Amino acid sequence: MKLSVIAIAGLLSLASCAPTGNYAVHEKRNGDNRMWTPHDIELDRRAMLPISISLTQQNLDKGYEFLMDVSDSKSPNYGKHWTPEQIKETFAPSAEAVGAVKEWLTSYGIIDERLSVSKSGSWIRFNSTIGEAEVLMQTKYRVYEHADTKKTHIACDEYSVPAEIKSHIDFITPTIEFGAVVRELKKTRALPRRDVTKGSTNGTTKLVGLAVEGPRLALPPPPPKNGPVAQASSPTYCDQYITPDCLRALYGFPVGSLSKSSYGIVEFTPNAYLQSDMNLFYASLATNVPVGYTPTLNSIDGGVNQVTYQGFAYNGEADLDLQYAIALVYPQKVTLYQVGDMVEGASFNNFLDAIDGTYCTYSGGDDVIDPVYPDPAAGGYKGAKNCGTFTPTSVISISYAYNEADLPVAYMNRQCNEYMKLGLQGVTIVTSSGDNGVAGNSNQCCTYQGCSGGWLNAAGASGAFNPSFPGTCPYITSVGATQIVPGSKVTAAEEACTTVIYSGGGFSNNFALPGYQTSAVKTYFKSHKPKYSTTLYNASGKTRAIPDISANGANYLCAVDGVGQLIYGTSASAPTVGAIVTLINEQRIGAGKSAVGFINPVLYANPKALNDIKKGTNPGCGTKGFSAVSGWDPLTGLGTPNYPALLKLFMALP
Ligand SMILES: *[C@@H]1O[C@H](CO)[C@@H](O)[C@H](O)[C@H]1NC(C)=O
Ligand SMILES: *[C@@H]1O[C@H](CO)[C@@H](O)[C@H](O)[C@H]1NC(C)=O
Ligand SMILES: *[C@@H]1O[C@H](CO)[C@@H](O)[C@H](O)[C@H]1NC(C)=O
Repeated sequence: MKLSVIAIAGLLSLASCAPTGNYAVHEKRNGDNRMWTPHDIELDRRAMLPISISLTQQNLDKGYEFLMDVSDSKSPNYGKHWTPEQIKETFAPSAEAVGAVKEWLTSYGIIDERLSVSKSGSWIRFNSTIGEAEVLMQTKYRVYEHADTKKTHIACDEYSVPAEIKSHIDFITPTIEFGAVVRELKKTRALPRRDVTKGSTNGTTKLVGLAVEGPRLALPPPPPKNGPVAQASSPTYCDQYITPDCLRALYGFPVGSLSKSSYGIVEFTPNAYLQSDMNLFYASLATNVPVGYTPTLNSIDGGVNQVTYQGFAYNGEADLDLQYAIALVYPQKVTLYQVGDMVEGASFNNFLDAIDGTYCTYSGGDDVIDPVYPDPAAGGYKGAKNCGTFTPTSVISISYAYNEADLPVAYMNRQCNEYMKLGLQGVTIVTSSGDNGVAGNSNQCCTYQGCSGGWLNAAGASGAFNPSFPGTCPYITSVGATQIVPGSKVTAAEEACTTVIYSGGGFSNNFALPGYQTSAVKTYFKSHKPKYSTTLYNASGKTRAIPDISANGANYLCAVDGVGQLIYGTSASAPTVGAIVTLINEQRIGAGKSAVGFINPVLYANPKALNDIKKGTNPGCGTKGFSAVSGWDPLTGLGTPNYPALLKLFMALP
């Protein structure tokens, strides 16, 4: 249907017939835009905008209680996870919300025939002229230019909706985010160029894999065929390099023996593993796995395990994650969620869309940060985007992160609510807490508003602490890194990782402190509060604290591009913790019980099932960071897994 252009004069007269309800500001961009500069170009107000109104889901405010009901060991409903249908019914926007928003649109002349409403009622879409949208939302659109790419976008600084329907609307796009596509937009003159203010987290929203390259080290020769099985119970080399045997000795877990489900590992293209590296690794360090064994590929949005580009930057992360995941859980299967094509790559929402159709059709937010599929770029993936195509595995490990400060709040909240829903369905999500101590990815600190409540302008100051997302979402198990004290045995207590990387940790600037963490964080602040300025981090003790748990993240011996290679990072710690949870799930499923699902409430209620780490710091941003102490701390969490204790704990639960 071709839309007719509505004259603005006519529109205004229509608007005057609208309900006279008061408007209230719905969303407003805070602070400066860093990379985006507005221009005083006159926009053609007849140009068309594809408007999406994302309706508020019901019961999100009860999400935490719902999740605790199935995840808290004291709850009678522990382990009684929800079906996808239950999730859909519980959270879908109410018919009342859909009706009220339609009424608003109709009163402004945006009639039913122009609207497209999703089946679940989670969004309403229509094409609107810029002029029409400006009246509807009492806003003004402007042209912005990106400092690096010189791409232009139209956006507004804030918009309003009638106060009485505000609670029904989650957000409307395109509005304050950058990424809107506009059709038939006529530029009236060439765009002038201007400088933008730069922060040290500089507005480049970058998804980072957390595997850090170390020196090369020869892989040990394969054990002799038909010879005695290598004595692995107390390896002596683990302070110099970590192997699957070292991890088993450190945390007391056995070689896998059951195959009841699958363990999910997420990789974003062009990160890819090499089968030749897998085979080298199995032959040398994981002889429990047959050479030639491959993970089960779930290809998302054209995701390919590419071999065109090789080198540590392409193979390091995926080789590490998959070699250890497979070695630790085999004969349990490992599912590789390979996300994104070679042109655009991918990000978290592309993955979440693929494992949850309701998330996928709960529109909005994706095109702000994440690549959009089908990929319009030359050579891009032209198939339909994956939407609820795959089922989530019981445990999913993700070794990638953003700086929380670089992401829009609505984007993070929407995604975090999805992690809550996955938890309700019995899925455990483990993610890396970061490799730069209290600093963010690429060792960046925050110098703009929003990081810790204020600007940090002191001369020479490097900025505020910069925690990483998605670990700061309270529905995720965030994993920090430890190391064996150099020169010590595998049986000695570990310390926070200070070799090559520092364990990421700290306090969110966006998410509130979840109840399950309250007592642990309170104790930490009471006895060990560092004497830092309150501009460095949110020291209120009222925000989500990370990590929850930790595991060795130093000196992992891997096979990368045909040679032995040491790798460092919480990138190694997360798949290790995920593997241990998977082994516990195997035993539970074998005993006719459910998967463990969201583990944080049980962990915080039973800290003795973890090895408390009491030594080390996580420096960054010109400080020595936090210190590992007795009990929970913001660099090693509650400590490292004690598999026998954890198994006993979880097997005793219904
Ligand atoms: C808006 O216009 C585009 C391009 O003409 C069309 O593909 C799309 O279906 C329209 N959207 C709605 C909700 O009518
Ligand atoms: C932002 O930071 C990234 C990564 O450190 C760097 O590559 C890029 O050039 C920076 N951009 C600006 C405008 O400073
Ligand atoms: C810290 O977080 C609390 C709770 O969200 C908030 O009320 C407070 O304003 C924050 N402080 C700073 C300095 O941002």
